[in-house]
Amino acid sequence: MLNRAKFIFPLVTIGLCLAAGPGRTQQAPPKSPKAEHAPEKALDPWWKHAVIYEIYPRSFQDSNGDGVGDINGITSRLDYLRELGIDAIWISPMYPSPLVDFGYDVSDYTAIDPLYGTLADFDRLVSEGKKRNIRVIMDFVPNHTSDQHAWFAESRSSRTNPKRDWYIWRDGKEPGQPPNNWQSWFGHSAWKFDPITNQYYYHHFYTEQPDLNWRNPQVRNAMYDAMRFWLGRGVAGFRIDAVSRLFEDPNLHDDPILPGKNAYGDPNIAHKYTDNLPEVHQVLREMRSVANEYPGDAVLISEADEPNIAELTKMYGSKNDEIQLPMDFQIADVNKLSAPDFRRLLDEIDRNPAGGQPHYFFSNHDQPRQWDRYGDGVHNDQIAKLMAALLLTTRATPLLYYGEEIGMRTTDPVRKEDVQDPIGQLGWPQEKGRDGERTPMQWDTSKDAGFSTAERPWLPVPPSSAEYNVKAEAQDPNSILSFYKRLLAVRRSEPALRDGKYLPLDQGNPDVLSFLRKTPGKGDSILVVLNMSAEPRTVSFALDVRGVREATARPLISAPKIARESAVLAHFTVPAFGVFIGSVH
Ligand code: GLC
Repeated sequence: MLNRAKFIFPLVTIGLCLAAGPGRTQQAPPKSPKAEHAPEKALDPWWKHAVIYEIYPRSFQDSNGDGVGDINGITSRLDYLRELGIDAIWISPMYPSPLVDFGYDVSDYTAIDPLYGTLADFDRLVSEGKKRNIRVIMDFVPNHTSDQHAWFAESRSSRTNPKRDWYIWRDGKEPGQPPNNWQSWFGHSAWKFDPITNQYYYHHFYTEQPDLNWRNPQVRNAMYDAMRFWLGRGVAGFRIDAVSRLFEDPNLHDDPILPGKNAYGDPNIAHKYTDNLPEVHQVLREMRSVANEYPGDAVLISEADEPNIAELTKMYGSKNDEIQLPMDFQIADVNKLSAPDFRRLLDEIDRNPAGGQPHYFFSNHDQPRQWDRYGDGVHNDQIAKLMAALLLTTRATPLLYYGEEIGMRTTDPVRKEDVQDPIGQLGWPQEKGRDGERTPMQWDTSKDAGFSTAERPWLPVPPSSAEYNVKAEAQDPNSILSFYKRLLAVRRSEPALRDGKYLPLDQGNPDVLSFLRKTPGKGDSILVVLNMSAEPRTVSFALDVRGVREATARPLISAPKIARESAVLAHFTVPAFGVFIGSVH
């Protein structure tokens, strides 16, 4: 999960009393074909070559003037996404939710929250997407529901309720004592006492997010039916939230205590008995076979905050029968421009024994935006291009976060009373929450940057929108947006970028990350040279051993501009934070 959560979330255990939204199940799902489509699965499925774009629906486009983005707003921007070169959108949760965790607390898995629209709006989004070859990927939150979900209301009502075992209920160790020392990811005890039945329930995240009991077959079936509901409506797959947290030790062993305390005064612990239990893999296999009941090679993407590449690799499944695209937090969290660190991780995942497809990203709704996280405060626009080139030239399936293509920056609230994210309200001023990376998309220079016509959008539009917006950048050939568009176009048109092997070059270089993408025996290879330092660097490439005969590379994209005369392989100079992508023959 989010890297910074490890540091900040322990503050939050007290109940967050936000109003519950009505969970309205709308019309029955189309029938599942119930047939395993695995035999007809493509050998070269779409998701290996797709560029995926995460949309935070509250912040992309408001179509009805209430200050919050919505489904019709997203539909109205599909042409923009098509022109940009996006193949699939992953939309953060739009299910009915009391919004304690802004939608990651679901109160009905088979409906759309009226705040975002209706199921008919959703169906229209899917079909309009289809016309433009843009697939829709749902967010799926299996670990926990909202405490306002009807299942939890039943479960908590009595110890004998048929849904009692759908959640994790236990007696306290002794009066006033939780069952054991497990801690919530968001801080303090992971157990909440419920006076209705005098037992504790387990919540890995907020107290308003009780964990489902995945050992109960009825829970599994209900959740798989929810997946079928959306697959039947034509979604192209799921981004599965917090998958490694699905199981806990049934014997409730205490987690090992580590030295020191966390930022909020809890003893540090290793989440040995609540994270990454081997039982997770059976569930992932079952989810995959649910996806396989439908045609179209539905993809499963996992939020897999694994501690290393070896653990990440397990998410693919021993027979490649689990997750196709585990999100690689190792790459996302390098957090500095370090050619050796990126090289080591790229090499390691490229050689993963499962042969799985890597899946990279740098920004999302939980992480400060890459523009400032990797920027040095002086060359941020240039560094944004460098990071774009890194994301879009390896063989990984890339994941963009809305607004990174225009250089949106993290814009934290300046006053506590403006904070929306509960962790920011509770952690202020040390922790300002995640509002900063969730601000409205910057479309143009009209009021609220073209995001909304409301008096006040749910989060303020950053001042940087005056300069950094889609309209202005579309007209500037040197903008970050124009650079992304060119990169995405080259990624599509160059066979070696699409299919080529990843071959690292000059592996001892401390500043310059370079590699070839090469399709065996066919056409040109693509040379990628990324200078991660603030000084010009000269590299000597000996590519004859890789079958390259010419002495210079032909530039396809460079920033700042590098002419062909300067692209001499034996003596190749790249400017500070420079990017070169060229073909070699
Ligand atoms: C995931 C989501 C995050 C949420 C958490 C708990 O990490 O990305 O936004 O707070 O799950 O549901």
